[in-house]
Amino acid sequence: MVPAMRVLGIETSCDETAAAVVDDVGAPAMRICANLVLSQLVEHQPYGGVVPEIAARAHLEHLDGLIARALDTAGCSFDDLAGIAATGGPGLIGGVMVGVMEAKAIAYVRGVPLVAVNHLEGHALSARLTDDVAFPYLLLLVSGGHCQLVAVEGVGAYRRLGTTFDDAAGECFDKGAKLLGLGYPGGPAIEYAACAGDAKRFPLPRPLVGRPGCDFSFSGLKTALAETVRRQGTLDERTRCDLAAALQSAILDCLLDRAAHAAAQFTARHGDGHAVVAAGGVAANSVLRPRLAQLAADWGLRFVAPPPALCTDNAAMIAWAGVERLKLGLVDSLDFAPRPRWPLDELAQPAGLAGAAP
Ligand code: KG4
Ligand code: ZN
Repeated sequence: MVPAMRVLGIETSCDETAAAVVDDVGAPAMRICANLVLSQLVEHQPYGGVVPEIAARAHLEHLDGLIARALDTAGCSFDDLAGIAATGGPGLIGGVMVGVMEAKAIAYVRGVPLVAVNHLEGHALSARLTDDVAFPYLLLLVSGGHCQLVAVEGVGAYRRLGTTFDDAAGECFDKGAKLLGLGYPGGPAIEYAACAGDAKRFPLPRPLVGRPGCDFSFSGLKTALAETVRRQGTLDERTRCDLAAALQSAILDCLLDRAAHAAAQFTARHGDGHAVVAAGGVAANSVLRPRLAQLAADWGLRFVAPPPALCTDNAAMIAWAGVERLKLGLVDSLDFAPRPRWPLDELAQPAGLAGAAP
């Protein structure tokens, strides 16, 4: 029997300190040996958003202990690891540095390879950890900082079809929730409030819907919501839920419209029978998932999304990207420099120009 390739993953790019241990063998459900996420919600809540300095200090305080617990949960030690994978960017640079320095120290002392993982690649490959999805596939990557449609053609082979001109979808959920007084993070709060709301009471715009291409724009939608809230004055419970439903419905309509254009481009190049994959925190949304499944079916594609806990930030996806890279001999040297910005597709055009050709 081939021994498992066991990798420790570290994620510290935003407000989640996470450590995980992942194997490459067995059924997808068996591969995650440990997956620990320590949220910093309490630390950042008073500020209504993530404070980079506080995040970095919290990562520093908790990371050692979390790694020890992850190894303990997996029932292994540093000696059993084939590699250490840490998020090398993009993200809040103080936090990324904490994770990368920790990974370098372990790699150096234990003599195991280091893999510096692009956080977006972690999200992009997460469906291959949970579902054995073959390349190529169409990826909708929707998180707090990114909103992209990407043809994933292999490890490290990403062709961006569309991106956002301004805010990311998750940012629109977060800013909308703040306007409605629903707290942070906004996505789950909006989703919950929207269950009891009437999406039709307040008409909100759907920027770029019906226009060619796969790019997104959410800033006009956010401004329209702010204006509607201002006109309402104080918000009663009913109105708050109706506005949450209206915002969620508008964001999802935008995502679905752009994803349909991307599916047309993707199938024109690759044919049908492949997958549409959703990843990133917004992919945890339980209204978005069935709508994407329907879109995939309409284009002769299957729909795959990791379980919600693996859509939001976690270290299992980083460890898995480490496994995929190690198998291809893609390792990093100990002088890897953390990258605050790190596009998935280094050759991609800015929004408005991307994905013009099939
Ligand atoms: O991937 P992620 O955990 O972190 C980033 O890499 O940004 O994504 C976080 C984003 C936040 O904007 C959060 O509001 C959003 O994902 N989110 C959701 C849901 N759960 C998290 N948005 C909509 N519906 C959800 N259920
Ligand atoms: Zn993320």
